[in-house]
Amino acid sequence: MNRRPLREDAMLLDVYLRVLDEQQNEFTVPGHKRRAHLLDEGLGRLVDGDVPLYGGLDTIKQTNGALKRAEERAAAFYKVDWCRFSTGGSTHTNQALALALGHPGDVVVVSRSLHRSMFLGLVMADLRPVWLPTQIDSTSGLPMGTSFDDVATALASNPDAKALVLTEPGYVGTMSDLAAITDLAHKCDVPVIIDQAWGAHFGAHPELPRHALAYGADALVTSTHKLLVGYSQASLVAARTERLDRDRLDRGFEATQTTSPAGAILASSDASRALMETRGVELFDHVLSLVRSARERLHNEVAGLLVPDESTLPSGRFDPTRLIIQLAPLGADGVAIERQLLEHGVSLESADRDTLLPIITVADTNESVTALLDHLIPALQGARGEPRDLSPALSWRVKPVQVLSPREAFFARHARVESSMALGRVCAELIAPYPPGVPVLAPGEVVTAESLDGLLEVARSGVRIAYAADPTLSTIEVVA
Ligand SMILES: Cc1ncc(COP(=O)(O)O)c(C=O)c1O
Repeated sequence: MNRRPLREDAMLLDVYLRVLDEQQNEFTVPGHKRRAHLLDEGLGRLVDGDVPLYGGLDTIKQTNGALKRAEERAAAFYKVDWCRFSTGGSTHTNQALALALGHPGDVVVVSRSLHRSMFLGLVMADLRPVWLPTQIDSTSGLPMGTSFDDVATALASNPDAKALVLTEPGYVGTMSDLAAITDLAHKCDVPVIIDQAWGAHFGAHPELPRHALAYGADALVTSTHKLLVGYSQASLVAARTERLDRDRLDRGFEATQTTSPAGAILASSDASRALMETRGVELFDHVLSLVRSARERLHNEVAGLLVPDESTLPSGRFDPTRLIIQLAPLGADGVAIERQLLEHGVSLESADRDTLLPIITVADTNESVTALLDHLIPALQGARGEPRDLSPALSWRVKPVQVLSPREAFFARHARVESSMALGRVCAELIAPYPPGVPVLAPGEVVTAESLDGLLEVARSGVRIAYAADPTLSTIEVVA
């Protein structure tokens, strides 16, 4: 097929490639000057393709406005009036939004299935969360975001809330009824902020959920590096500025963006947008067909396995490109299966005892998915055990008892105690099974028997405990 090169629709990609092709005599940083091969061949392979924003994609004085024009093009794609590209992941863009929302001490209504980056955004901005529990689908045990009723209750009891902050979709690709919830928040004049890190492809195909801004949300962040084709760390944040203050958005963004952005990261967000815009339907036809065939093969060849899809989950609340493999009815152990797959060079995005999540994207092929299944299916067939009930993972069952604000607890004097002695104390650190990176305990929350026992059990099952000072959880940091 004679295809128009992507660079014709992605100006930052075009500039990047032109810079790579040009001979230049630069007296700017980065110090490698794309000539590090003169020092060492391996080092050259590592850094000689690196073009910075300043003095690379644009002049040091930013006279060409290349980045600004690319961001405006992305804003037009989302049909909003503000967009920025980040080199700090959705970690940075979430925190940028948190810094733009209110004033120190203000209340925000937030889903408790938030990623730790947004929790730390609350610390930075000194926002006080009113937590929304995670709604669980009773059939599959999967998290379904937040219920309309819980949002209605929280907004009614907190008329001074400065924003509603949700994570949509969640880690497994399921989501709330966003259109209805957004409408409700707007009736209360509350802006809706969506962490859509896992939905960079939303809106690219009629069978995918629309992106959050199309449902009326006021701002979204997304990781173009996750389910599109961005460089690691590539993220963008887009907003409409009816209910949000444009100056605050810019300030929040600038506060924590590096002053030396890597051009490849920025250009890859531009290219991801262009790819979605120009070839989204064709590419996601392919992804949907790969995922549907994979589900069918799993169903046919591994009796008893559960592989939910859009027909088994609440309508319109699932990203159909996501392959969720639920192992409980099979009695198999996902951590052991992951170990087996790694021996064959196959790695999965997430594996805990009950669930496997291979990620399939526009870069996958029939061959790559067949190779995954050729290893996965025998591993599943050989791993049958005593069937277990479907139960939601610990990360979706958190019932926080918050006694200090995130910021107060983050800066409080703290002490490290044996975990058994931590019961009833106020946690001073953030502890999350990873993936999904949702805090089960966060600074300012009481260490309850449920959270502590749950974390210890998850750790014993072989899941990594992230962010804790002591990942073995023999000790926990509590407020002194
Ligand atoms: C829901 C959610 N938000 C934000 C992030 C942070 O994204 P990034 O890795 O791009 O910084 C993640 C990372 O996994 C996430 O799952």
